[in-house]
Amino acid sequence: MTEELKISDSNDKGEVYQSLLPQIEALISEEPDSVAKLANVAAALKYGMGFFWVGFYLIKEGELVLGPFQGPIACTRIQKGRGVCGVAWEQEKTIIVDDVEKFPGHIVCNASSKSEIVVPIKKDKEVVGVLDIDSDSLNSFDDVDRRYLEQLCDKLS
Ligand code: SME
Repeated sequence: MTEELKISDSNDKGEVYQSLLPQIEALISEEPDSVAKLANVAAALKYGMGFFWVGFYLIKEGELVLGPFQGPIACTRIQKGRGVCGVAWEQEKTIIVDDVEKFPGHIVCNASSKSEIVVPIKKDKEVVGVLDIDSDSLNSFDDVDRRYLEQLCDKLS
């Protein structure tokens, strides 16, 4: 896909996801290289949804290692069970954090990050990485984000 993203100006988050996800799926389907794919997914989510930070951590030799992302520089390695990302990996489920300061063990990569959602990416039922999204406002993520982002991560694997 070479043309620009068409970004919905709706105030309804679900509608914005509904307009963006088919475009992201088109990006994924046309590119076999996983780094190229994940890089464009991060950019599409950051600019399409207006998130503060969007990126992937991929499991390599037993730890999460920073992959393609959009936003300020971030921590490069996260252990299983540590931080929001490591807990999402360990529990194999999406974690929504309304206020990162209240999440025990939250790993601060950027002081502007206030709330966060982490969605595991599974291949053959095993977690291979996570999608991590940070917002610079409190309480940014809810079940709408969970539903669409889980749908997206299913397609990624
Ligand atoms: N806050 C995350 C670390 C990654 S950054 O937010 C980009 C965590 O606690 O796992």
